[in-house]
Amino acid sequence: MDGAFRIVALVSGRGSNLQAIATEIKEGRLNAEIALVVSDNPEAKALEFCKANNIPAKYIYPGGFKTKLEGDAEAEYIRQIQEINPDLIVLAGFMRVLKSGFIKAFENKIINIHPSLLPKYQGLHTHRRALEAGDKEAGATVHFVNEIVDGGKPIIQAKVPVLPDDNEETLAARVLKEEHRILPEAIRIVISKSAE
Ligand code: GRF
Repeated sequence: MDGAFRIVALVSGRGSNLQAIATEIKEGRLNAEIALVVSDNPEAKALEFCKANNIPAKYIYPGGFKTKLEGDAEAEYIRQIQEINPDLIVLAGFMRVLKSGFIKAFENKIINIHPSLLPKYQGLHTHRRALEAGDKEAGATVHFVNEIVDGGKPIIQAKVPVLPDDNEETLAARVLKEEHRILPEAIRIVISKSAE
């Protein structure tokens, strides 16, 4: 591959997973470049982080639906990301379902971090569901994105214990620490596979 491995990250909020990627790059442990960050939320903390750290970032209007990208908005996301021609699209806390038009435009180039031990707990409220089920362990999974929500091929998974006193917040915090470790690791795995 010529030059650095180019990443586009899609975000919706806080951006701590994006920060984990940026830190690994800055400290020389991840040979990649964040070519663009796209947010579907103009207020996302992630955008402030990008501004403060000279990472190219923009809000793109996501259309009228709350949980998906469709129609003109989807076409605009595709167009603007195709302009960047990234090696990989990382969903780093992007809270919308991507439909087949987007997925086909970037086939096998999209990965997502999901806060559960997939295939358990696809979708939302993963920590609440793990606690309600009385699970003894929880975790996070990075996987390729296909048309089945949270159903694509796993790349890496991390487990944490569920402790007797846990609530959603304490469990989420323990899992998030692992997310920050395995998301950059998953990118390293994808990069090394692409060089094979
Ligand atoms: C993470 O827990 C991610 O797994 C989930 O949304 C959260 C995003 O956090 N889907 P952040 O924006 O990366 O801080």
